[in-house]
Amino acid sequence: MLDLLITHATLADGRRDMSIAVQDGKIAEVAPGLDASAHETVDAQGQLLSAPFVDAHFHLDATLSYGLPRVNASGTLLEGIALWGELKPLLTAEALIERALAYGDWAVSQGLLAIRTHVDTSDPSLLPVEALLEARRLMAPYLDLQIVAFPQDGVLRTPGGLDSLTRALDLGVDVVGGIPHFERSQAQGAESVRLLCELAAQRGLPVDMHCDESDDPLSRHVETLAFETQRLGLHGRVTGSHLTSMHSMDNYYVSKLIALMAESRLNVIANPLINITLQGRHDTYPKRRGMTRVPELMAAGLTVAFGQDCVMDPWYSLGSGDMLDVAHMGLHVAQMTSQEGMRQCFEAVTSHPAHIMGLDRFGIAPGKEASFVLLQARSAAEALRLRATRLRVYRRGRLLAQTPASTTRLDLPGRPAETSRIAQDRTGAL
Ligand code: FE2
Repeated sequence: MLDLLITHATLADGRRDMSIAVQDGKIAEVAPGLDASAHETVDAQGQLLSAPFVDAHFHLDATLSYGLPRVNASGTLLEGIALWGELKPLLTAEALIERALAYGDWAVSQGLLAIRTHVDTSDPSLLPVEALLEARRLMAPYLDLQIVAFPQDGVLRTPGGLDSLTRALDLGVDVVGGIPHFERSQAQGAESVRLLCELAAQRGLPVDMHCDESDDPLSRHVETLAFETQRLGLHGRVTGSHLTSMHSMDNYYVSKLIALMAESRLNVIANPLINITLQGRHDTYPKRRGMTRVPELMAAGLTVAFGQDCVMDPWYSLGSGDMLDVAHMGLHVAQMTSQEGMRQCFEAVTSHPAHIMGLDRFGIAPGKEASFVLLQARSAAEALRLRATRLRVYRRGRLLAQTPASTTRLDLPGRPAETSRIAQDRTGAL
């Protein structure tokens, strides 16, 4: 007797009428038209069953703090960093944990079951680090959390910055972070990349750096990150987040840089909602979009994910933990409107970030963890178009969240009343 059987599901790769058998928290079988008895059977009615959403770039220590102690008047990255500096002395562990847990609830309800969060290690008290370690412990039964030691004010620019970051790793933080473009000079930025990659190599940890989050076409920290990755043999373990400078770089130079990145198997995380709002702020018109070169990096064989980065914090007043919202923006900014491009954008918020976070147990295949999301959509492209309702969210075979299907009742003059899924019923499976 199976624990759970999902029938008549469509998968993100386009396979239809599939059954998914679940036993002991794992996927036992994926096949068309399975007929087996189970404690619970769910008829997916042709809707999309997807691997969970994964966000490989977030700031859980800042989330849901919008308006504290004031709002970001200019909306710029630099005012956001200054505002975060004003907020930090006012933070308490209790409030940090409470906001992190609240966001975790939002995440699970949206089928977002794994988050890599950066945590600011600049303050020697490490209060945010200890708060997020406690949040990770509290959320472990329902959400995978990875924590990155992130020296927001620059690991070399901050007195004692390297010591604080190292102590955060000693406490159990998972990943080494950095922010080379915020150091005082290009040389200091390169030095920070070298030091942090060496630290990660010594400890056997992954690296995930905010890297060249600027519009400066001459910034060269991505090149340094690729070089240090190759020099230290960290292939596949290093991630560059943002890389927005690549948007503005000379095309000839980028043709060399992408080859270097591919050689070191650098992973890439773009943050479309944040990049499109924070970059190009010094431009008049035309305004640059600022997001890194997503389709070109994918074409070179690099793993590229889309992250949420911010939700209602000093840098961004919007967001809801909806990774389809993130992918929808990424699709538009990168002009990835082909069928293949839309599929890649869906993967950029599911399988690609799972790969970057080392979550090989995610996926709809036999032997994988039985964690998945049933969406009110009949294809990945339709899920993106509608930012589809998450009907049911499962983790390790257990139902964690349910949301009723979105329907509309129409009472139009001269026509019989009608209740329908208005934007879904007339479009087929495209
Ligand atoms: Fe970030």
